[in-house]
Amino acid sequence: MAWQIKDRFCSYIEPLERLPDAIWDDDFIRFEQDWTTVPKLVSEASGVVLELGPGLGNQLRRFDKTSVTRIIGVESNAHFSPDIQRQIQEQGLDHIYELLMCGVEDGSALERHGIVADSLDTVLSIQVLCSVPDPEATVKELYRLLKPGGKLIFWEHHRNSDWLTAAVQCKPDTKHSAAHREGKVTDGIADVWNPIWKSLIGGCNMTRSMRAIVATAGEWENLDSIEGDELPSSMLPRVWGVLVKPKQT
Ligand SMILES: C[S@@+](CC[C@H](N)C(=O)[O-])C[C@H]1O[C@@H](n2cnc3c(N)ncnc32)[C@H](O)[C@@H]1O
Repeated sequence: MAWQIKDRFCSYIEPLERLPDAIWDDDFIRFEQDWTTVPKLVSEASGVVLELGPGLGNQLRRFDKTSVTRIIGVESNAHFSPDIQRQIQEQGLDHIYELLMCGVEDGSALERHGIVADSLDTVLSIQVLCSVPDPEATVKELYRLLKPGGKLIFWEHHRNSDWLTAAVQCKPDTKHSAAHREGKVTDGIADVWNPIWKSLIGGCNMTRSMRAIVATAGEWENLDSIEGDELPSSMLPRVWGVLVKPKQT
């Protein structure tokens, strides 16, 4: 049946089922390992890497130590510092991993650590652009920091393009109007899940138009390589990719 009532109902309560995974890290590490492309994406990081929001440090085990030369983790939540430091030690990354406790928007802190225009081989964002205050400005700045030939690796929540599911996720975030113009949802439909999810999961938004946000950050060599697992009824679809900044811009 076109409306797929049962599938939609099960899917719309999915955020509730995922809450324990989001809170207990071992479950989430296993989920990412067994069901997602995250391990492969992280292993594609190389050279000088800026890791956005390492959180509990779950991705540190997935770096390919033969490819990365320096990793700068930038984390805005000081509570995560001991967990990240522990992972740095456990994963044997202490000689190459530097942790900056600040927001990725703090350009002067990044600059003090040598992160300036055209200085990064990789920017890694695993579920962080869903939380930053101004994702469009942030991705534009990250683009500037990437070397020509550098790559943005991301795996992020985004707003479903199915209008009914998007309405249950939440009405679009009006602050990001350029991005939400490409969607089909109109303002004024019920805000349902996003405010609850956002308050429980540290500011994470499930409703951003992530494809459009990364696409408009700058020229990319391979924009059409962005992938996603969007099903019409999925409340937590992800979008991901390894976008390359052209060598000649
Ligand atoms: C959902 S967690 C993801 C953690 C980690 N990337 C992973 O895959 O396990 C989002 C992380 O981004 C951090 N974060 C949110 N906004 C940020 C910002 N503006 N700058 C740096 N980190 C930020 C949060 O504190 C949190 O640790």
